[in-house]
Amino acid sequence: MKSNPPIIIKLGGSVITNKRRPLSTRKRVIKRLGLEIKKFLQNNPDEKIILVHGGGSFGHPLAKKFIDERGYFDDDAFVRIIHVMRELNQIVCKILIDVGLQVYPIQTSCVFRYERGGLVFLSQNLLEEALNRNLTPLLHGDIVICDSGYTILSGDTIVAYLAKSFGSKRVFFVTDVSGIFLDFEKKKIIRKISIGSIKSKIRSHLPEIPSILEYGVFDVTGGIRTKLVEFTKYGQPGLIITILNGLKPGNLYKSLSGHRLGTRIIVV
Ligand code: IPE
Repeated sequence: MKSNPPIIIKLGGSVITNKRRPLSTRKRVIKRLGLEIKKFLQNNPDEKIILVHGGGSFGHPLAKKFIDERGYFDDDAFVRIIHVMRELNQIVCKILIDVGLQVYPIQTSCVFRYERGGLVFLSQNLLEEALNRNLTPLLHGDIVICDSGYTILSGDTIVAYLAKSFGSKRVFFVTDVSGIFLDFEKKKIIRKISIGSIKSKIRSHLPEIPSILEYGVFDVTGGIRTKLVEFTKYGQPGLIITILNGLKPGNLYKSLSGHRLGTRIIVV
């Protein structure tokens, strides 16, 4: 039986960790988000979800350290960044299992790689099988093998890639901001925008774009800009990408249930 394509949710590193304090998690926030996802699945038993989490104060500072010191990722960087991401993944996974989600953690560095510049995913069948069993796969931003050595694979890229390969109609980026801002003072949020107009803004480098895309905290994978650029590459017509503030209780549940929160990017 063919079922609904999965909803993909990215739990951003800025929400599940405190990006200003190395190796710090926001356990209560992770738990609350887990409960909101659980409630949604209970109320919508036909829906399936793939979760992806970011690197936050675990992956980013270590990746930056290697780049600053060596200028590239060597074998040592590869194993250490995997290790620190597994530590974060263990914490996230345990909290989500404890709230009642059947979370199936998948170590990203084992299933994704870059080959001749293109992203390759080695476990499509496994993920499909997991979804058929109503498990909730959990992937994360990581370091992966590429032709020239190793490179960071952002959770944002994973979301965009999986949305395309599974034909997802809805993806959600749970962040620490209320959406994409129209102005530098971060007062006015863009409610709805097409990927086409984002593409032209990125291409023409309009002066407002750097300001609406900046987070202010160092991020080796480029913050909101990466989300947008990846969807200009992988976005499928009919896809709706929602960027919402996950620090506000209830936002994720409401958004999953169809309330129009944050910024919605429409791929036409
Ligand atoms: C980054 O993943 C992974 C590493 C730095 C190893 P993301 O790019 O998805 O992380 P966040 O959400 O920005 O923290």
